[in-house]
Formats: sequence, C-alpha cells, structure tokens
Amino acid sequence: MENIHPIFNQSLSSQDKESLLGQKGLVIWMVGLSGSGKSTLATGLENKLHSEGIYTMLLDGDNLRVGLNSNLGFDDSGRTENIRRASEAAKLFANNGTVTICSFISPTIVIRKLAKDIIGKRFYEVFVNCPLEICEQRDVKGLYAKARRGEIKKFTGIDSPFEEPVAPDIEIKTHQMNLETSLDVLFEDVMNKIKF
Ligand code: ADX
Repeated sequence: MENIHPIFNQSLSSQDKESLLGQKGLVIWMVGLSGSGKSTLATGLENKLHSEGIYTMLLDGDNLRVGLNSNLGFDDSGRTENIRRASEAAKLFANNGTVTICSFISPTIVIRKLAKDIIGKRFYEVFVNCPLEICEQRDVKGLYAKARRGEIKKFTGIDSPFEEPVAPDIEIKTHQMNLETSLDVLFEDVMNKIKF
C-alpha cells in the first residue's frame, strides 16, 4: 500500500450521492444455508424496492462465483476471499447510495465479522433461517443429494460448518412464513433504514 494514494477525500461524498437518489445506501446481507430461500427473498425484495423507486444492486454468491470470484473454491480460504471481495464490492455500491442486496451462505461467525468490518455502519444482517432437514428435502439444485453421495466435498451443512448468526438485525423463518409475508416484513424494515 506504500505508494498508493486514494483520492477518496477529493471525490463527491456519500451524502452527495444519497441526496441525488433520495435514499440512503445500505447493504442487506442475507445469510443462510443453500436452499434456505436467500436468492428467492433477495430477488423478491429487489423487485419490490425497484417498483417503489428505490435504486438497487443484487450480489449473489452463485452469480459472483461465475465471474469476479470464478477462481475461488469452497475451502476456508476460498470462502473468506469470496466474502471479502463481495463485501468490498457491496461497500462501494452502498457508499454510492445504492441499496445493495447480498446473498451469500457466509457460513461462519468469523466470515460475517469480516463482512461487517469491511462494510461498517451500513451493514444490515438478515438471517434466512430454515432447518437443514427442510433445505435438504427441498434440494432445489440437487446439491444435497450429491453431497450425501460424496460427489461434492465440503458442502455447507453436510461436511462443512454452518454457524447460525447470534444477533442478526432480522430473522426470516422461511419454513414458517410464506414468501409474500416475509417480503412485506423485510421491505418495511428496509424502508425505515433507507428513508431520507
Ligand atoms: S459462501 O460459503 O462462500 O458464502 P456462496 O454463497 O458464495 O458460498 O455460494 C454458495 C452456492 O455455491 C450454493 O448456493 C451452491 O449452489 C454452490 N455450491 C457449490 N459447492 C458448494 C459447497 N461445497 N458448499 C456450499 N455451496 C456450494
């Protein structure tokens, strides 16, 4: 970093961007097992916000892993770097006034602390809570079956850990609440955070 000279303090401020957009930047960080409903909630929420005139960006684990993060795997270092890059990208968007929805398993307390430390005060944590048994029953992508057969190694919840968030900003139990209600609850809380 020695010969690097960032120009942050000469550029327009976050407040300049936020007042132009009429909204506050926020990172909505969805945490949960594969199949818990993160992506469904993330896309549903983005659509709802967009239709209410809110400027958004969606960063999703599977999407980033075919582009920006295509060189990363699922061991500890791959997941940590995945979350570090996603957090840095989300921070750029949110500091520019965008309501940025992030959907990543982000399986450990340490990994989520990294995200929170990078993003700072705009970090808003959503625990998309669904028991492993139900995610496995749903098995939308067929990945749990593959993991049980040993065809995928280090699969979250099977042979790689998932630590539940201790104090998320909000918890959505997708096996108990339907999608419409979940989206209403999330939308209301988010609107309170981003209003000017
Ligand atoms: S994270 O752990 O690094 O946060 P991320 O959300 O980016 O994970 O990616 C998870 C997605 O990758 C899952 O939805 C699934 O489609 C796919 N995937 C492939 N291999 C694994 C694995 N070993 N563990 C979890 N998800 C996997």
